[in-house]
Amino acid sequence: MKSDLVKPPDNPVEPSVALHFIPLSETFGAQVSGLDLSSDISDIVKSALNQALLDHQVLLFRQQDLNEDQQARVAEVFGPCRPLWQNQFYPSQNNRAHYLSNVDMEGRPIGRHPDPGSTHWHSDGSWSVNPSKATVLYGIRVPEGEGVTHFANMYQLYEDLDQPAKDRLRKLQAEHNYELARAARQKRLPWQWSRADLSVQSLLMHVTWWKSVIGRRFRDGAVFHPIVRPHPETGRPALYIGDHAWRVRGRFWPSGIKLMKEINSIRFNASARYDHKWQPGDLLVWDNRSVLHKVGTYNFLDQVRIMRRCVVES
Ligand SMILES: [Fe+2]
Repeated sequence: MKSDLVKPPDNPVEPSVALHFIPLSETFGAQVSGLDLSSDISDIVKSALNQALLDHQVLLFRQQDLNEDQQARVAEVFGPCRPLWQNQFYPSQNNRAHYLSNVDMEGRPIGRHPDPGSTHWHSDGSWSVNPSKATVLYGIRVPEGEGVTHFANMYQLYEDLDQPAKDRLRKLQAEHNYELARAARQKRLPWQWSRADLSVQSLLMHVTWWKSVIGRRFRDGAVFHPIVRPHPETGRPALYIGDHAWRVRGRFWPSGIKLMKEINSIRFNASARYDHKWQPGDLLVWDNRSVLHKVGTYNFLDQVRIMRRCVVES
């Protein structure tokens, strides 16, 4: 176990805090002990936690008891929180902390996982011009042994590539757009339509949808990020790919989508993976600029999974 004694150099009134870091996997992730996050967090500890996030990429705090405001305050240790939509089934009083729940307030199953797209590898907010820095996820009720959150170390993935692959990927950019990414995955783009899509009713639905999505894409402008993206703070190159990255820039769309799919299918070595099995009261903070994540399967009709999420701006 690595221990850091966090000492305030200029403030003799503030007590020292011993933060203990226990590795979560071979190459990244650390459990941090020695902190009750519902209490005030001093500036010196805030700075130590920000450094720890850069060093370890995923931080785990166990046995925390946090309400919405306390969680948002913890998230703000890492930066300002992005205002989030209110989940219609499980409303939040704080627009910086929202719920991802497969049951409503009365405990009735909603019949699905609340965000099906999150079952694919992604980086939160990569579809934005200024993608998110970090995500802070709190487990309120979690299915035993299921609904794991999987992480991939994107520094490691880049480092594991051979030199020709590194050279090739360094020249490429990806367009990130979650609507078009999901449409491509679900084969809803015009050149992916099957015979069943060619009925008048289906065609009308497809064309209406396509017009609105394409209208938004051209009105708001496309968002491109380099596929090998130097981390904005550490400068280390990381692969910046995942589900929102739907096509490679500068190619005819169908071939750009095909190439992006190949890049997104890169195999992850076991040493670049960490799978988090949740316990109630776990709080995870991860760096969206150096890890991808996705939620694992669970029986959303029989088991209850209630999480609360804050997203930290870049
Ligand atoms: Fe996510």
